[in-house]
Amino acid sequence: MKATAIAPANIAFIKYWGRVDDALTLPANSSLSMNLSECLTTTTVEFSPQREEDDITVAFYGEDPESLEGSKKDRIVRQLDRIRSLAGSHVHAKVVSKNSFPEGVGVASSASAFAALTVAAARAIGLSLSEKELTILARLSGSGSACRSIPDGIVLWEKGVDHDTSSAYSLFPPNHWNLVDIVCLVSKKEKTVGSREGHAGAWTSPYYRLRLQKLPKRTQKITTALAEKNLSAFGPILEEEAVDLHLITMSQKPPLFYWLGKTIDLIHAVQQWRMEGCEAYFTFDAGSCVHILCQQQSKEEVVKRLHQFDEKMQLIINTPAQGTRLTDTHLF
Ligand code: DP6
Repeated sequence: MKATAIAPANIAFIKYWGRVDDALTLPANSSLSMNLSECLTTTTVEFSPQREEDDITVAFYGEDPESLEGSKKDRIVRQLDRIRSLAGSHVHAKVVSKNSFPEGVGVASSASAFAALTVAAARAIGLSLSEKELTILARLSGSGSACRSIPDGIVLWEKGVDHDTSSAYSLFPPNHWNLVDIVCLVSKKEKTVGSREGHAGAWTSPYYRLRLQKLPKRTQKITTALAEKNLSAFGPILEEEAVDLHLITMSQKPPLFYWLGKTIDLIHAVQQWRMEGCEAYFTFDAGSCVHILCQQQSKEEVVKRLHQFDEKMQLIINTPAQGTRLTDTHLF
């Protein structure tokens, strides 16, 4: 009754922001993302009848393992409860998890965390679920973007019309296109407002309904650019969408300002590099981190320019990755 899964975080090209059903985590729009090869969560789950309660230990990036308590533990226990109830079991679990990257800075650490937890726990308890069923189960964790970390490569989460139809699937395999995503850790401070509260406020932005109207066309256009591996078509849509997300967060009530001064400086820098012939584009999730997308052939040039921009800034260089996978190497 023990299993271990490794799950990638993902960067959204079309963002999930706002829900139509909070309890079921049904999003207001479909979203699209790429799995990140170097931002991984590994989680081992073991169910055992001798255990009297769930015991959850997390090794946060660069820190010693700690036993989780409070609201973070409650979210994980609720996800274990969903899995137990599907399996008709009441057995408690020991969970150990570790991250290869910093949490809470705009790289979706809860996405990889809940994807790894869901896949490992479902296997450990003996459930045999399809990829689609696993994405639905990961979505219910409340960290909706977790469902996009399960299938391979570039993934679409279709908003669907109800619980059974809101699921994620792979649009393109990891080797479809030699894209590179360079995460620039602008600040290592955890953001103060999580995405959960952020989603709730989306509808209060006067621009939110306009955003929802524009998204189907934008999603279609970026999918075509990805299919054609056309960076000059892909990049401007990527940037328009990233700015659009922050336009909503800054105009919702209460407003959320995720950008720091350095985030804006990087936007200007990337625009300048393009004028100089170095083709790269920016995006960001709900955080201060900037993700810079380019093709493999410009990676070294972009990294050189980033070092010139700030030699101390930590970078994580990702390629499109496979989704959540099981491994025999357990954490305990
Ligand atoms: C801005 O509710 O999935 O990153 O629980 O914080 O991982 P976390 O987030 P979730 O919302 C993600 C919001 C987003 C855009 C996106 O990833 O689509």
